[in-house]
Order: sequence, then structure tokens, then C-alpha cells
Amino acid sequence: MARSLLALASALPAVMALNNGLALTPQMGWNTWNRFGCGIDEDLIVGSAKALVSNNLTALGYNYVLIDDCWHADSRDPDTGAPVENKDKFPNGIKGVADQIHDLGLKVGIYSSAGTYTCGGKFGSLGFEEIDAKTYASWGIDYLKYDNCYNEGRAGTPPVSYERYNNMSRALNETGRPILYSMCNWGEDGPWNFAVDIANSWRISGDIYDNFDRYDVRCPCTDMLDCKLPGFHCAVTRILDFSAPLGQKAGRGHWNDLDMLEVGNGGMTFDEYVTHFSMWALVKSPLILGNDVTDMSDDTKTIITNDAIIAVNQDPNGSPATRVWKRSLPDGGDLQLWSGSLVNNQFVFAVLNTGTSNHTEDISLIDVFTDQGKSFGSGTFTLFDLWQKDDSGKWGKNIGDFQGKVSVTVGAHQTKVYRATPASGAKRAVDEL
Ligand code: GLA
Repeated sequence: MARSLLALASALPAVMALNNGLALTPQMGWNTWNRFGCGIDEDLIVGSAKALVSNNLTALGYNYVLIDDCWHADSRDPDTGAPVENKDKFPNGIKGVADQIHDLGLKVGIYSSAGTYTCGGKFGSLGFEEIDAKTYASWGIDYLKYDNCYNEGRAGTPPVSYERYNNMSRALNETGRPILYSMCNWGEDGPWNFAVDIANSWRISGDIYDNFDRYDVRCPCTDMLDCKLPGFHCAVTRILDFSAPLGQKAGRGHWNDLDMLEVGNGGMTFDEYVTHFSMWALVKSPLILGNDVTDMSDDTKTIITNDAIIAVNQDPNGSPATRVWKRSLPDGGDLQLWSGSLVNNQFVFAVLNTGTSNHTEDISLIDVFTDQGKSFGSGTFTLFDLWQKDDSGKWGKNIGDFQGKVSVTVGAHQTKVYRATPASGAKRAVDEL
């Protein structure tokens, strides 16, 4: 008996994810907040859902349409305590919006806070978890983003935060409807340690800000592992720094959420948005668009439709890339090497330049394949540049076979991303391991 239990235990994955069968790859979709804040209504949301379809974004995987803060009426139903939507903004109710989104073949999400109020000052769900979860399920909701404002001080240690967030996790499960549970407690108390079996994803930092690297005192932490004030206005490179040690905690069904995308919102250059999108994809953050999908520039479309980058994010292995090194550059920026593995003996690596001038570096393939061992990394690899198109117009241009090193030139604030596949030499090497 003891032996068979042991055998069973060793057959289980090391970490159990929330058992709702959802988010086996990071969730993808569109959310109202980054672009529209509280200025939302039925027309905007249904119109955006239609634009996701007509721009072929749904075919690429952007399937969740997420209603963020400010859908609420002034107060709950005074008799039942059930949540009520703002009828001026949503004349057909949230259920009416959900029906239209489902008719388009998409899924729909809603937002609340594990506090007395939401961050926008609407009624929160603390103490109302069951009735809220039931109501969301009755509206046909498929996804809940659950925030952390006005939490009445019920945070500060992992067990205290766990209890508050687990109350909603349980309530959602009890509805019997599969509802993706996206925790948004900004990394407080280390959700990557306490939430792996209660949530499908958890935010790791204060709110993103449409800027590449500007320091803002409102995002004061330098290390999320020891952060008492996650804040907001966190630039892209800062959130990426926070995420660097956390990849080890994410996997199928439970992801680090680096916050919603800003691509297309105007605060960054094309190269900066490429970096933002690429790195979010490599570390397996949910890819939630935060721009106006009814009105997009060609540059924005180019970035968010790169299916080779999306394939990295959605790789069935669910293994986040990790940062191998970060080296200071003479211009004050740094060069970073990130690498990760994909299914079928495929690999991905990225070279990111946070500095303000071009930089060329010989990237050691032994470094790229640190996790696979020296023998493997000494092999020969065919590399595909995932931000170049091949002759047939597909993302991922074969740039040749390499052994030992590859010389990479990266522009200011740019990221180069490569998929690597072992050529025959490296295949022999892996057999020797
Ligand atoms: C918090 C969250 C944001 C957004 C707003 C809404 O700041 O972190 O993503 O949901 O609340 O008020």
C-alpha cells in the first residue's frame, strides 16, 4: 500500500495546478482597462469582440473578451445582495453581452476585487464570494480577474492572502462552471508560492505603464521577492526584472501574469513593443491585448499577429524561458540572454538590449543551452529568426546552422528571438548525455 502510494505520488507533477482544466497554455484575449479604463459599455465590448474576429485575432488564440473595472451599478441588489450591472452602460445586462460574445464563438470575463471596493471604487466581493460567483456563472462568465484593492489589511503573510483568494477559488469551483481564475494581487505575499493550486494565473507586480524603462517612484520595489508596496506605473523592463526568478513557479494551468499588453497604446516605439510582446510570450505570461482593437496601425497588427512568437507562448510544454545572464553595456543599459525549451527538442532564446545604442555580441550556444548541458550545447543548431519572414512570408526565417556561437546585433531597446533546432551533430550529442 505504502509503495503504491509512493509510486502514485512520484507519477504526479511536482506542483498541482488549479483543477479546473483551464489555461493549460497561457490565456489570450483582450481587456478593456489599459486603453479605456472606466469608459466602457456594451457597444465598446461587443464591437471589440467583433473586431477580434474580423482581424483574425481569434484565429490566433485571442479568445477571451475581458470586462475590467466599472461595469457595476452603484450598489448591490438591496434584497438579495447579488451584484448588479450599470444599466445605462449595459442595457441588456452583462448576460446580454456574454450571450453576444458567446455567439461569436468567444469567451467572456469579468472583474472584481477581494476587498470591500474595487480599485475604481465600485462594490467589491469580500464577504460576497458565493453570491458573486453564482451570479457570474448565471450570466455565463468564463473568466474572473480578481483584484486586491480595499482588502481591509487582510494581507501581509501568505496564509492571510491565501485564505482571502481561496474563498473565491472555492466559490468559483462550486458553481460547476469552468471559470478561469486570474488573481490580481500584484505579487503581494508571493502568489507564485501560495496560489499555484488555487488560481490559473497571478499578477506578479504593480500595474504596467505604457513605457519601456522609465523609473517611477510609484513602482518602488526593486525586487518582488521582498516587496511591500507593488505600486503602479511599472515600466516594461522593470516588470521583466521582477519576473526573472519566477519562471520556475509557473507551468500548465498556473502562470505568472506580467500584466496586460500595452502594444498599440502609443507610449513605446515599434522595437520597444516588439521587446514587450516577445518577452511576455517567452516567459509564458498571459497575452491579453490592452489596445483599441477596432482601430489598429499596421505596426500594431504586425506585432500582435506574429504567430511564431505566439507559438512560443502557447507551446504545450508550458516551460517559461529563464534569464541566463544580464550584462552591463557601456551606454548604461544592459544586454540580456533568455532561453527556454519547447516541445519536440526545440528551443527558443532571446537577446535583449535595454541600452540606447546598437550592440553586437557573440552569443555562446553553451550559454543558450545551459540547462541541456555542455555536450548538447556544443552541437550544431539551425536557427530561425522569429522576427523575420521566410521566402513564403511566414514568420521565422532560417538564418543557417551554427556551432559554438552566433553573432547577434541588437538595436536600442530591441529584442531578437530565435528558435533553435538541433542539426545532426547536436542530435548525436544529446544521445551521449
Ligand atoms: C488595478 C489592477 C488593474 C485594473 C484596475 C481597475 O489597478 O491592477 O489591472 O484592473 O485595478 O481599477
